[in-house]
Amino acid sequence: MSQQGPEIILGVGGGIAAYKSCDLLRRLQDRGYQVTVVPTPASLNFVGKATWEALSGRPVSAQVWENVHTVPHISLADKSEFFVIAPATADLIARLAAGRADDLLTNLVLASNAPKMLVPAMHPSMWLDPATISNVKTLRERGFRVMEPEVGRLTGDDQGQGRFPETSSIIRNFDEMTGNVSDLLGKKVLVTAGGTRESIDPVRFIGNKSSGKQGIAIALAAKKRGAQVHLIAANIDEKSVKGIETTHVVSTQEMHDALIKDFPQCDVLIMSAAVADAKPKASSFEKIKKSMLGNIELTPTIDLLADMSKSKNGQLIIGFAAETKDHLQEARRKMQTKGLDVIYVNDVSGGAIFGKDETMGTILTRNGADIAVKETSKDALGNLLLDQAIRQLG
Ligand code: CTP
Repeated sequence: MSQQGPEIILGVGGGIAAYKSCDLLRRLQDRGYQVTVVPTPASLNFVGKATWEALSGRPVSAQVWENVHTVPHISLADKSEFFVIAPATADLIARLAAGRADDLLTNLVLASNAPKMLVPAMHPSMWLDPATISNVKTLRERGFRVMEPEVGRLTGDDQGQGRFPETSSIIRNFDEMTGNVSDLLGKKVLVTAGGTRESIDPVRFIGNKSSGKQGIAIALAAKKRGAQVHLIAANIDEKSVKGIETTHVVSTQEMHDALIKDFPQCDVLIMSAAVADAKPKASSFEKIKKSMLGNIELTPTIDLLADMSKSKNGQLIIGFAAETKDHLQEARRKMQTKGLDVIYVNDVSGGAIFGKDETMGTILTRNGADIAVKETSKDALGNLLLDQAIRQLG
């Protein structure tokens, strides 16, 4: 899903679990959904309009009597592609089953043909009451997707089936309905992007042509598939990547520090950054005269991947190789020496690939067959690499 994903309605019923829908709203936004919150008037006793407006960044109405000139129940219904109603109380379920239209949410449900999912939460005796059982059956027959509440402790001392499910379980169900893939839900993916720079003096550096497009594409693809993504970005063209937690770095040392901090918690590291291979033995505070540039002594930078592999503890590591000849042999050698599980090699002869939206190369794994990647978008390559990650993580 692009950052401008489908328009959806998050309906909120008047149960104590309404506060848990604040987190649900955030996670839906993370998945790219454009969310309008429509609370029932009763639910505003638990979570007020101001909270929903602040979290969603959109105006919030509970009644059809607000902004009447815009006919909100019809215009909103028309633009919304999916509904998730969480929590759905016994009363709201009964009103929906009866086809009532006594607040904005129930009006919208009647006015829209979009697929709808309900997340019931109530006391077990209400969930098991014949009236609720019959209402749920009616709604399911009409095509509503009704989740089963979870079994466990409820507000007060009571136990039983009626708990509001975990946010991840709601998202998984909702993604299934919308066709959004969420196979990385619960996984932490660490991505590096861009190119590191080693300072020579106040005006010069050793760097490379990497724009960061590939790493950003991977980070967005992983996020879209449900992963918790952290991006370490070195001198990328874009100032920020919407919705992705990013640590900005300049030098290889700074990228190393960020990796040391984040690598232990991740499940997958995808190292798409182009790392400067050498740095001046000493960076000068004064601008070096050009006649002296030939005297600059260089020293290799640390190999970040090789260093991270040494402390590997179940993480899957994916590296890149930029080659101009002997691509496959060089890629296999790098896979061995850097301790990688997967490597993507591309031909950078003549500076090809850098800054472009397309890429072309080969994915190599430790035991599988090579996968040739014909000219494809960097977004699509991101997904191919994530497919490999999922396969190998089992
Ligand atoms: N890499 C790294 N640390 C370095 C250099 C590269 O972690 N100091 C990573 C890159 O992020 C990439 C992979 O290693 O995922 C291969 O990078 P590449 O530039 O192709 O290889 P090098 O190790 O630099 O080897 P060479 O210059 O000999 O091709």
